[in-house]
Amino acid sequence: MANSYKRIDAHLSSLGYCTRSEAKKFLKIFEVFVKDKRVFDVSLKANHEDVFINNEPLDAQTITILLNKPSGYICSHNDAGSLIYSLLPERWNRRNPKISTVGRLDVDTTGAIILTDNGDLNHKLTSPKSDVIKVYEATLAEPLKGDESQIFASGELMLNGEKKPLLPAMLEIISPTLVRLEIVEGKYHQVKRMFAAVGNRVIKLHRVSFAGFQIDDLKEGEYKFIEL
Ligand code: URA
Repeated sequence: MANSYKRIDAHLSSLGYCTRSEAKKFLKIFEVFVKDKRVFDVSLKANHEDVFINNEPLDAQTITILLNKPSGYICSHNDAGSLIYSLLPERWNRRNPKISTVGRLDVDTTGAIILTDNGDLNHKLTSPKSDVIKVYEATLAEPLKGDESQIFASGELMLNGEKKPLLPAMLEIISPTLVRLEIVEGKYHQVKRMFAAVGNRVIKLHRVSFAGFQIDDLKEGEYKFIEL
């Protein structure tokens, strides 16, 4: 947990409201209070929970959210195109530590993705040893042949370029071209490569849940705060 007792300019800059050098001007434009006293001195120290901007408490010191990623957004801080971070409040992009996605979804994949500024949590959820369950709904180009569930569950499926077979995965058949797939690993393009390995192609991919967190009624581009 970040230290809560620090200078006003450090609070403002770490949460992305302004840079440290802009803090003086910020205090003139916005009504920043520590408890019931308006502040004009950037060096004044205060606890996070005692600081208010225009009567609103500061943003939380740590942010973890579940976002319903729309298609067309890239899970990267510095790529050309529409970045997933542009879906968040603008000042969050200036926070330090940075908010980052927990793993990645392909640009055309939609659905559940967690973003956090908690590096330990991010590491824990993405580590190869973590057994976080991810559930995907995949629309396929070709009807299923019939042996896919068994192949995916076998723990023997080798993907091109991998040294070890995939851990068992569970396939639920909804229709001949629509499935739910539950996996615990998070290899690059894993779901698309699994279906390519059985002679099929994913034409639409949606992640229904990650680590038990469901998209539920979140609309595309919407997020909610979560605790893990
Ligand atoms: N598997 C894929 O192929 N793509 C994703 O975005 C996620 C899992």
